[in-house]
Amino acid sequence: MKLITKELEQINTTFEYGRSLGIVRAVAKNDEYDGRNLILDGKETVFFGNCSYMGLDQNQEIKDAAKNAIDKYGMYFSSSRTFVGLELFEQMEEKLEEMFEKPVNVTTSTTFAHISNLPILIGKNDAIILDNYVHSSMQTAVNMMRNNGDHVEILRHSRLDLLEDRIKILSAKYNNIWYMIDGIYSMMGDGAPMKELEFLMNKYEQFCVYADDAHGTSWTGKKGVGYVLNEIPFHEKLFIGMSMSKGFGTGGGLMVYPDKASKELVKNLGKTMIFSGPPHPAAAAAAIKSAEIHMRPEFADLQLDLKRKIEFFWKKANQLSLPLSGNYATPIFFIGAGNTENTAYTAKALLDSGFFVSPCTFPSVPKNKTGIRITLSRYITLKDIEHLLEMVNHIYLQLEKMGKMDREQVKRRFTEKSTKELILS
Ligand SMILES: Cc1ncc(COP(=O)(O)O)c(C=O)c1O
Repeated sequence: MKLITKELEQINTTFEYGRSLGIVRAVAKNDEYDGRNLILDGKETVFFGNCSYMGLDQNQEIKDAAKNAIDKYGMYFSSSRTFVGLELFEQMEEKLEEMFEKPVNVTTSTTFAHISNLPILIGKNDAIILDNYVHSSMQTAVNMMRNNGDHVEILRHSRLDLLEDRIKILSAKYNNIWYMIDGIYSMMGDGAPMKELEFLMNKYEQFCVYADDAHGTSWTGKKGVGYVLNEIPFHEKLFIGMSMSKGFGTGGGLMVYPDKASKELVKNLGKTMIFSGPPHPAAAAAAIKSAEIHMRPEFADLQLDLKRKIEFFWKKANQLSLPLSGNYATPIFFIGAGNTENTAYTAKALLDSGFFVSPCTFPSVPKNKTGIRITLSRYITLKDIEHLLEMVNHIYLQLEKMGKMDREQVKRRFTEKSTKELILS
């Protein structure tokens, strides 16, 4: 058997410890699932890790559309679309293009979207700058580019002051400079500074942005077009990978392009477009229905309902002086715990009290920023939020009493800026 590195060994040990507590790799033994309750260890538990932000995964119209498609086309259409695909897949793209008002390609996952996009969109003599908090799926795709000899560097998270210097320096040597970001960062829940990035795209001809807006999709923006497109209008040098597996509720990935030529190039030449299978017919029909729901005027009311819950969470957490990673109005909240031991203790105590949250330790988050990640879906009630946060506060008071936590110190870790300029890859 292959020997793993010391670092992987440490991560594995932490994982196995979490598993023994039931806080990672948990198995929900629900006879039926409604988006809110998980049956864990025989007990009802409120699911504060659900990324189906809009609650569309349980929508009856969407479920019916999926069932219908299975009856009509079966479970799977087994051929690459490069050879032949169902008309249903074309209809899915058309519906999504109506929603985004831009050319769209669909894939079975957002990771596959990045893997198809990057080698086609990014030229041989281009440079790539990766935000160091960018999602692992983007890092995987960028590593493929690095292995092909592309210039890749990593920049401290959202440090646009440092970014502009790098653009100036790299512009002299490379044709285009690509900045790879998440729209909403999946761990800490902060949004990328899109308005500043728009300014830089306008200022520097060679500067392009590629954003993964998986966690921004659906819950924000008109028709649910997402965080990035809610912040700025579409830009000719902006490329976006989206997800249908979170707020959209149906599963899969999609990519939105500024022009038809980029879409067609990726569709013809993208590796996962050629060598991977199409969406499941059920997922394609569900996506068409979900896009229709996104385009109805009353969809804004569903978004507002979630936004009220986000605001309530934020106010309550601040009232209790919990160490939030920042003041972001998104459905992802991160509460620092100080270290891995406190993180595991908190997640386990919450589980015992009937709340499932995601414990996050290195390498998902930096070593000094471990804590619990809480996501809000429309299934969660205001009472659920109140009870959860009061319980977190209670646990933190216990940890403080035991001398294991200093909230103010934990808070400072999320506000301090590193003075080091660039993390070289
Ligand atoms: C920001 C972000 N991008 C991409 C992905 C990967 O998505 P997929 O499973 O569709 O490849 C995730 C997964 O949760 C994510 O959080």
